[in-house]
Amino acid sequence: MKIAVLAGDGIGPEITAQAVRVLQALAAGGLDIHLESALVGGAAVDVCGDPLPAETLRVCESADAILFGAVGGPRYDTLPRAQRPEQGLLRLRKHFDLFANLRPAVVYPELAHASTLKAEVVAGLDLLILRELTGDIYFGQPRGIRTTESGEREGFDTMRYTESEIRRIAHSAFQAARKRAGRVCSVDKANVLETTQFWRDVVTEVHRDYPDVALSHMYVDNAAMQLIRNPKQFDVIVTGNMFGDILSDEASMLTGSIGMLPSASLNAKGFGMYEPIHGSAPDIAGRDVANPLATILSAAMLLRYSLDQAAAADRIEAAVRRVLAQGLRTADIADAGAPTIGTRAMGDAVLAALG
Ligand code: IPM
Ligand code: MG
Repeated sequence: MKIAVLAGDGIGPEITAQAVRVLQALAAGGLDIHLESALVGGAAVDVCGDPLPAETLRVCESADAILFGAVGGPRYDTLPRAQRPEQGLLRLRKHFDLFANLRPAVVYPELAHASTLKAEVVAGLDLLILRELTGDIYFGQPRGIRTTESGEREGFDTMRYTESEIRRIAHSAFQAARKRAGRVCSVDKANVLETTQFWRDVVTEVHRDYPDVALSHMYVDNAAMQLIRNPKQFDVIVTGNMFGDILSDEASMLTGSIGMLPSASLNAKGFGMYEPIHGSAPDIAGRDVANPLATILSAAMLLRYSLDQAAAADRIEAAVRRVLAQGLRTADIADAGAPTIGTRAMGDAVLAALG
């Protein structure tokens, strides 16, 4: 089985290197995987002017899954949009039709106090945000910046969802809920936006196939508030691309550190791209301080969902829990004034804990 490794920019290469070490250790222990690296994002723009070179697409197409680091950095923010690193990510999502983005927000007992919320509000939290990833205002046409007839400039984007796009993510949500606590909350803005009224109607229709799952609906502004007020009321949250982008960042902070959260982006065939939900963090890049655990946990998700290697995934997740139980912390999850370790040392610790 082949894994394409796209490290990208900023802290991407450092954190991905630690996940690669973990995967290589499993390979040395007999797991039948091999890794092939390719350029993406700003790193690819630097070499060939394209954030998703044809060669990278070829490597990904020949792989069974993609491990992705992070892309982006201030150096690239003034480039024409087509050459910005983020386009590498968006084009990969679209190319492989990775419509189902799983963003779990789980609070590790050892880190409950690292949240900016009270420990009792977040302790035991286990929430799954299922974000639709290939539609909505992110990809809707037309879009642009133009000059109107009156001579004034205006910017515009188009929010749109087709019925089939909503149906497939709704099915994913209900199926995910069946393996969890059996509750789906669909988040929309049906009081204002036609697209999301349609979203609500279609999700309600699909729900008829899942009488064993409880469905509720919530407006996105209320959902943003409820996530802070009482996050444990949620099991699965399903929502569109834009609301999911925002709510998943919010949910990540409930857990204490965005540096802990992996994600999976899957298509209908189970092919997937796996990445930490944090970004490229250019401010701390190259300093060996970033937390590699979200990427290491992304590798575990990759083994579980795309390669059907649950035992190997369990081993990685158990190793991460052991390292946390040992009290080892990168700066982002450490108590104020407590000792911290760096990116590579955290990788060493996970390797040692793999047993
Ligand atoms: C994310 C990121 C991306 C998004 C950016 C980098 C394009 O914020 O994965 O959440 O908006 O989807
Ligand atoms: Mg985001």
